Amino acid sequence: MPRGPTITAPPNPCAAMIIAIDGPAASGKGTLGKRLAAHFGLRHLDTGLIYRAVAKALLDAGHPLEDRAHALAAARQLDPACLDDRLKSHAIGEAASVVSAIPELRAALVAFQRDFASAAPGAVLDGRDIGTMICPNAEVKLFVTATPQARARRRTLELAARGAPADEATILADIIRRDERDMNRAAAPLKPAADAHLLDTTHLDIDAAFRAAVDIVEAARAR
Ligand code: DC
Repeated sequence: MPRGPTITAPPNPCAAMIIAIDGPAASGKGTLGKRLAAHFGLRHLDTGLIYRAVAKALLDAGHPLEDRAHALAAARQLDPACLDDRLKSHAIGEAASVVSAIPELRAALVAFQRDFASAAPGAVLDGRDIGTMICPNAEVKLFVTATPQARARRRTLELAARGAPADEATILADIIRRDERDMNRAAAPLKPAADAHLLDTTHLDIDAAFRAAVDIVEAARAR
């Protein structure tokens, strides 16, 4: 992974068609990202997987999640082929939220994400800072939200479907704590870009959320 000294708001790093999706944990942004990419013939990057992979490397090696030097080393050794759904456990997500607050780590991961975004024919990236930091000139930006309760319910059902049953109240508490951490860190905190379209999925199933997202993208592109 390329390493950059600081995170700066870039000029326009994204010449290809980019859809930037940001939002909190379990808002549905990952599933939307995948479906939008398939629908519009774009590539898809779930950027949370990058932070999850770094967190897992630290956990596996027994290093503290705040360890900058080892986090940077893990980022440099990251193999994009290993960014897959095996990183999707609840525990790794929590750990990723902690490591992702390290500014130098975020800076080191910027170029990889921008390179992915700008390769033809373009891409859908989902994460926390795509519309604000990684691709501020994305053609369309979505900020996907849902109430913490709706997200906790979804995450609990998802984990149960994967054979990892979890207590919904515990998941809700974790989600609230993770929102707090992701929104209040100094480096690239989770927030909607000024020009993002808000999509509240609290009362939408995935098909309805997908249709709403397609409508937003098509309307934005028509403009
Ligand atoms: O989207 P996710 O649940 O897989 O993300 C895991 C954590 O990674 C999230 O709590 C914060 C961090 N993250 C980030 O800081 N920036 C991103 N672009 C994506 C994820």
